[in-house]
Amino acid sequence: RTIESLGSLASRTVIVRCDLNVPLSDGRITDDGRIRASLATISELREAGAKIVLISHLGRPKGVPEAASSLRPVAERLSELLGAPVAFVAETVGPDAQSAVAALTDGDVVLLENLRFNPGETSKDPDERRAFAAQLAAYGDVFISDGFGVVHRAQASVTDLAELLPSAAGRLVAAELDVLRRLTEDPARPYTVVLGGSKVSDKLGVIAHLLDRVDTLLIGGGMLFTFLAAQGHRVAGSLLEEDQLDTVRGYLAQAEARGVRIVLPTDIVVAESFSADAAHEIVPADAIESSRFGASGIGLDIGPETAAAFAAIIAESATVFWNGPMGVFEMEAFASGTRTVARALTETDGFTVVGGGDSAAAVRALGFSDDQFGHISTGGGASLEFLEGAQLPGLEVLS
Ligand code: 3PG
Repeated sequence: RTIESLGSLASRTVIVRCDLNVPLSDGRITDDGRIRASLATISELREAGAKIVLISHLGRPKGVPEAASSLRPVAERLSELLGAPVAFVAETVGPDAQSAVAALTDGDVVLLENLRFNPGETSKDPDERRAFAAQLAAYGDVFISDGFGVVHRAQASVTDLAELLPSAAGRLVAAELDVLRRLTEDPARPYTVVLGGSKVSDKLGVIAHLLDRVDTLLIGGGMLFTFLAAQGHRVAGSLLEEDQLDTVRGYLAQAEARGVRIVLPTDIVVAESFSADAAHEIVPADAIESSRFGASGIGLDIGPETAAAFAAIIAESATVFWNGPMGVFEMEAFASGTRTVARALTETDGFTVVGGGDSAAAVRALGFSDDQFGHISTGGGASLEFLEGAQLPGLEVLS
């Protein structure tokens, strides 16, 4: 259900579940992509004369308030981007929140404090969740679900709340679904997926699913070492998930049987330690222990030969989905693989989608802008689960 299904929203109080879970460093927002992505729905609601109550989580506080996870800096940034005041209330439910909501006039916006400061939000007990959702529902006439990054979570503000009020998907959720359906339903070929990030175990479902759908899978990031080890190579002190080796061997065999090309790195940047100024050198991927750091060397990026090979495959692709950095991009010495892949996505004629908070933050931190890509998804886990073909509770409840 889209916003239209809710009828006129003038003078009605609309609760909007956003995903304003942005990275913060010393209280400063380091990537405001998710705030920008929320603007379309909020601006539309202001123009429609709605009274707008925004709710979101930030980080993973365990049901108790913690200063480092306050949404206050988000309210300030949102106000700047919206060009209008955004009131902030330092509680999610309670008398201050109630009076702030009651004081709203048409077009006003209030942001309530972090939902996850309340145990009911993420409780495993459905009654506790439902009770918290009922407190939230009391604030509004209708509910709009626009936090795409959280639609894979069965949490009070995502699923229970949607059942308690007339509800609909917001513009961000609708836009994300349009793009991700393009990838799952009939992607233009060749279809290449670039996977990185630290752990294979985070990506098991999506890899298994992609082996039926893609033409080429490029593997980088920390997870590449488990692939190399599965092929019988020694990876020195690099990240390795021993308990995933059999699963990865299974993937390699399946890919071969199905004609899917899995491309692994041929060279690796190996460092003496995990630090920005660590000594490092480039070695062949099948001889990581041959670096001068021997068995204690740590692979922290794909090498230049690999990055160039990945870029060439991306250049020939009609559809590219990318999730997960190729190396430790936060440290300049190990950012090159991620930068080369990002640049290749900006240069290909194919349709490109960057998925996942880390990858989105990576491309922005490396100086690329959102409009250089076909789409930058706000969903990390959510976009991967969608691509896996999983039923996402926050979407099911809207259908
Ligand atoms: C995300 O960052 O992927 C979303 O905001 C969801 O956060 P969560 O993984 O803590 O539920």
